[in-house]
Amino acid sequence: MAARPAPVLIFGAVFAAAVVLTALGYLSLRRWEAAAELQLREQARDTATMAAEKVEMTVVRAEQDGLAALQAAALEPDFGSSSVEAWKALHPLFASVYVCDRRGRVLYPVRWSPEDAELIDALRAEISEKLWVRGGRRYLEAGEHVLLAAVIPASSRGPLLVGLLRDEQTLTREVLPRVLGGDGKSALAILDGRGQTVFASEPLGAAAPVLTVPFREALPAWRVALYQPAGLSPRDMVRRQAMIFMAAFALLLVVIAAGLVATYRLVRRESEIARLKSDFVANVSHDLKTPLSLIRMFAETLEMDRVPDPARRREYYAVLTRESERLSRLIDNVLDFSRIESGRQRYDITVGSVEPIIHEVLESFRHPLDQQGFTLDVSIAPDLPDLAMDGDAIKQALANLLDNAMKYSAERRHVTVAARREGDGVVVEVADRGIGIPVAERERIFEKFYRIGRSETQGRRGSGVGLALVKHIVEAHGGRVTVEGEPGGGSRFSVFLPSAAPQRQRVG
Ligand SMILES: Nc1ncnc2c1ncn2[C@@H]1O[C@H](COP(=O)(O)OP(=O)(O)OP(=O)(O)O)[C@@H](O)[C@H]1O
Ligand SMILES: [Mg+2]
Repeated sequence: MAARPAPVLIFGAVFAAAVVLTALGYLSLRRWEAAAELQLREQARDTATMAAEKVEMTVVRAEQDGLAALQAAALEPDFGSSSVEAWKALHPLFASVYVCDRRGRVLYPVRWSPEDAELIDALRAEISEKLWVRGGRRYLEAGEHVLLAAVIPASSRGPLLVGLLRDEQTLTREVLPRVLGGDGKSALAILDGRGQTVFASEPLGAAAPVLTVPFREALPAWRVALYQPAGLSPRDMVRRQAMIFMAAFALLLVVIAAGLVATYRLVRRESEIARLKSDFVANVSHDLKTPLSLIRMFAETLEMDRVPDPARRREYYAVLTRESERLSRLIDNVLDFSRIESGRQRYDITVGSVEPIIHEVLESFRHPLDQQGFTLDVSIAPDLPDLAMDGDAIKQALANLLDNAMKYSAERRHVTVAARREGDGVVVEVADRGIGIPVAERERIFEKFYRIGRSETQGRRGSGVGLALVKHIVEAHGGRVTVEGEPGGGSRFSVFLPSAAPQRQRVG
């Protein structure tokens, strides 16, 4: 447990950092959202204001030009209604024109309607003495209309008061389209005093109004409105950016989390392997020591001639043989395992029958099986096909299975070895009635160094490489090894070896 806090602390720190990062990210995103929306609105306001100025400038310039032309005509000696008519024909921007002299006489039009009369009255009432004296121009609001009033010098009669009424249709049809064009993203519209759209730079469709700005004195009741298509308003754009940012951020967090999980697993796996390795070393040393001390003890006893009984002596020799066989099996296992680990293991493949190999292995186990009170059932089908195999390797695999069957049996000491044809290969089974293997462990027992929970295997020493070796050998022959059985109900290992076998090969 002492080594655990370190990774936990690191993961905790990374997790806390991710949480803080998320919180900060969220806060600054909120702040950025507000600022960005404001900025986009400002930009929209600038666009609309610039458009309003442009429109107003164009209108004022057109009016000035018209007024200058009228003034030029007024300076002609024969100035009269017909000159005004001629001027009007050339200046369609003006719907009506009124001309009065200093005494208030209306020189033009010759006949007027009640509506004209109202405008003329407004014109005469609003003009101050100062304007008469100094000349100049100003806008007058008369009801819904805006009149451009100007005092212009004339040839004979002294200054004249001119009132010009704009033709709104000419303005919206001819002047505004020249001046206003959208910027592609947004549309501009001109609204009149009642809020009706009198002109739009492009079809408004589903576009939403963002803001309006007023004109100055030339178009006092009108406003410029800026429209943006649905989804392109400052708020929508900021929202979209924020969504993208948040998605990227979420992805980042997922990647961090996945990295954490992967690292955690790796660290756990590494420390598990380290633990298994140290168990392995302890177990191998112990397994080497036990037969060695037995061999030494019996050899010394024999050497000192302390065993006069020949039967007893034979028994001692048998112990020496058995223990040295056990020792060499263990050493073979460890050496082969290390060759496999370093990729140096080679198999010498020859074609032959598997039956003699099974008998040879059983022969070497006959004595230990007898001695430990095992009964053995052997059934080998007569029709086994020849296999392409490395006989020694197959022997080693079967010996490991038999060794396990003995090692992991309790009271019920019975081992079955069977071989039969299956498909185009052979299945060799080694079954016991021992402690069995939990379903969840069936895969893991074939991993190197893996041994089922220490308590279960307590008293049963082993290095944990036997089954890893079996699996490697069997798979190198193109076969597979599986296990069945329940805890307490014994285990049955089945090795399938195909008859069409690989050539001499090098397997790593
Ligand atoms: N026949 C069996 N019955 C019950 N459990 C088994 C049997 N065979 C293997 N096991 C379990 O699988 C584990 C792995 O077996 P493996 O043969 O690889 O290692 P080992 O027997 O512990 O050591 P060794 O390397 O000396 O063989 C064993 O520790 C044991 O828990
Ligand atoms: Mg074993």
